[in-house]
Amino acid sequence: MPTPSDVDIWPLLGVRIQVSDVELAPIDDRTALDLGRLAAGGIHGNFLPFSTPWTRGTETEVARNVYRYHSRLRHELSPERWSLEFAARLDHTLIGVQSLTAEQYGTTRSAESGSWLGQAWQGKGIGTLNRIAILTLAFEGLGAHEVTTSAWADNQASNAVTRKLGYEPNGEERLDREGRVTVQKRFRLSREMWERRGADLRPHVDLQGVEALRRWLSID
Ligand SMILES: CC(C)(COP(=O)(O)OP(=O)(O)OC[C@H]1O[C@@H](n2cnc3c(N)ncnc32)[C@H](O)[C@@H]1OP(=O)(O)O)[C@@H](O)C(=O)NCCC(=O)NCCS
Repeated sequence: MPTPSDVDIWPLLGVRIQVSDVELAPIDDRTALDLGRLAAGGIHGNFLPFSTPWTRGTETEVARNVYRYHSRLRHELSPERWSLEFAARLDHTLIGVQSLTAEQYGTTRSAESGSWLGQAWQGKGIGTLNRIAILTLAFEGLGAHEVTTSAWADNQASNAVTRKLGYEPNGEERLDREGRVTVQKRFRLSREMWERRGADLRPHVDLQGVEALRRWLSID
């Protein structure tokens, strides 16, 4: 038996998604620390875009939250419950995170995306590219039937990306955000909607390492 490679041991390590000059690659220990520093440098103003306040606190606390979060998700990955967390790089510079999360995906074929960019990289069209990249992984690479997303009603950038890519509304919830009731909007994009609306909207996306990932996650 040959000695197993890194990708044999942990097939997520072989996955790369390239769209335009943005690359998504799995988050290793070194990258989780660097992402922590990026997040500590600022993701948003006073308005909290996330469901939990992990960006509140000192720079060290924010960086530690990022490191702990990605380390935990990396090790908890299983076919029943996974969160594929990717670091986004623009021309090799680390700029943010794009994720795809699912439970019992083998049965549901439904996954949820999430993302953030360092403040300096926002508003330049990169969030849209990252979302197209992760949707391509889901629909073309992993055979998703639908991909969902959600954002606070006042998260204009996130909701603009969602609207632009043709999702449909999928309900809303009144939730606590730092002590105030706030509406969170949910959206879904079905495979049919992706295929019908997507082709003329999206740039070419190159997927690598997806077959091994599918086998590992028991996706037929
Ligand atoms: C949400 C996020 C990933 C979007 O990425 P982005 O690169 O900033 O978005 P893009 O530049 O691709 O913009 C997409 C659309 O949003 C619009 N948009 C961006 N910021 C906006 C704002 N503040 N108000 C209104 N529209 C806005 C853009 O005009 C663009 O639409 P257009 O192409 O029709 O002009 C990024 O802004 C971010 O990381 N925000 C902070 C963290 C966050 O909110 N994460 C998501 C949690 S649900």
